[in-house]
Amino acid sequence: MKVGKHITGILFGSLVIAAAAATPVVMAAGDAEAGKNQAAPCAACHGQDGATPLAPDYPNLAGQNEKYLLRQLQMIKSEERSIPLMAGQLTAKSDQDLADLAAYYASLPSKIGQAQGDDEQIARAEQIYRGGIARKGVAACSACHNPAGVGNAQAGFPRVGGQSLEYTKAQLTAYREKTRATDEIYGGMMRDIAEGLTDTEIALLADYLQGIH
Ligand code: HEC
Ligand code: HEC
Repeated sequence: MKVGKHITGILFGSLVIAAAAATPVVMAAGDAEAGKNQAAPCAACHGQDGATPLAPDYPNLAGQNEKYLLRQLQMIKSEERSIPLMAGQLTAKSDQDLADLAAYYASLPSKIGQAQGDDEQIARAEQIYRGGIARKGVAACSACHNPAGVGNAQAGFPRVGGQSLEYTKAQLTAYREKTRATDEIYGGMMRDIAEGLTDTEIALLADYLQGIH
């Protein structure tokens, strides 16, 4: 089953339920301890604690929800999400290994940064995050990512709080330019939303999310 395109106009309650229902049930139960044993090569880029990335545009993994992590790992392995820097990292991993890695990173405590913008910029970003931009059909981010930015673990909607400005900016731009299409099972909802955002709005949101909690 696939949720249709142009979903931003649909009521959120039903959308979240529909999106959750569209998620394939491929969850092998992950074992965090077994994941930890495989995580040494990952730490070189994502940090020992999963939240001290080697470069500012690398994501924090610590405390991200397990369902989201597992889906991304599966798509990175199949190259549906192309991450040249991770080429080869997951090739030899079984589904169980990926589930264990997802459980491990989900079990680590998340880390929050701080927004750098002035009060006016942060207020504008918060307004978009919590209220969307009605005239452009941009949905309120908080409906899916939670008012505190922690995401929705059950639905597999990612935590967005505590990611760096550089990483979030790159992801929102990639959705907008359709170079990231990992939201296909959700009917392309992040691509639809990002389409309505200007570079300035993306930069404001990406800064704001560093410190949301
Ligand atoms: C050489 C550096 C490098 C190594 C080693 C590496 N990664 Fe990554 N990883 C990245 C980069 C860079 C990205 C983000 C790329 C982008 O902008 O989409 C990423 C993205 C991810 C994501 C997606 C996060 C999100 O929020 O969507 C996950 C999950 C992930 N890595 C897990 C791992 C795991 C598990 C390992 C070890 C098996 C690993 N990575 C090893 C560099 C690395
Ligand atoms: C209708 C639900 C929904 C709304 C509204 C929504 N998102 Fe998302 N978002 C998602 C889902 C689901 C994903 C994961 C999709 C995928 O697998 O690529 C996601 C992914 C993301 C990511 C990538 C996270 C990562 O670790 O790589 C960012 C950043 C993001 N959203 C920011 C936003 C912002 C900012 C807004 C508001 C302008 C927003 N989202 C509105 C559902 C939503």
